[in-house]
Amino acid sequence: MALPVTPKHIAIVMDGNGRWASKRFMPRIAGHKQGVDALKVIVSACAQRGVQVLTVFAFSSENWNRPADEVSGLMDILALALGREVPQLRKDGVRLHFVGSRDGLSQRVTRGLTEAQAATVSNSRLILNVCFNYGGRWDIAQAATKLAAAGQAPTEVALNGALALSHCPDPDLIIRTGGEMRISNFLLWQAAYSELYFSDLLWPDFDVAALDAAITWFGSRERRFGKTSEQIATTSPTLS
Ligand code: IPE
Ligand code: IPE
Ligand code: MG
Repeated sequence: MALPVTPKHIAIVMDGNGRWASKRFMPRIAGHKQGVDALKVIVSACAQRGVQVLTVFAFSSENWNRPADEVSGLMDILALALGREVPQLRKDGVRLHFVGSRDGLSQRVTRGLTEAQAATVSNSRLILNVCFNYGGRWDIAQAATKLAAAGQAPTEVALNGALALSHCPDPDLIIRTGGEMRISNFLLWQAAYSELYFSDLLWPDFDVAALDAAITWFGSRERRFGKTSEQIATTSPTLS
């Protein structure tokens, strides 16, 4: 299905799993499981709509501070989902990238991530970046550390190239579900000129119609990148 203006890169803070479960008197982890199902639907809808990159926030640097059983439950869900979903992702032309620190992850999870990436490496229809054990501050710090070790000056171009998402253009549209209007340490650098869309839906309830509503809203935005409306009317809207 073609929508008027399809963002090349959509990023999503998939928030609200815990509340989705609590409302149903279920354990929070049930909400996370349901969240994986919602993600599957959105991944395939994005591929169908010609989105080139989808980046999702699955586990933040700060989510380690949650109760230990929720953290280990999230690790289990990731490992299970990888085992179950990779064959379908391969068929659908989705290339998986895990973005984040490997520190603190178990061998099982690290191996799962590496194998899933390798299994989808030749796909090119949709890049799916899964931000796991990720924080925007972590990313900027690791990029700066890399440059310092190589004796390179931390210019904007050099930093951009050293960040964990250097293989992608910046997100055009960032969606956050769950009703909160904050960034929670997601894509701090890359969000410089993203359009921000907030949905009150809890992530497991976010469906194709909700995605299309967000994309339609995106199509109504005038992206000025610091210029005036008059300039935008006569040139193509890009950052440079
Ligand atoms: C988002 O849902 C998933 C993760 C942060 C892992 P939450 O678990 O934050 O759900 P709420 O915000 O508590 O409802
Ligand atoms: C952001 O959600 C992280 C993920 C969706 C993975 P949180 O639920 O952790 O964010 P805060 O704590 O409400 O800001
Ligand atoms: Mg939350």
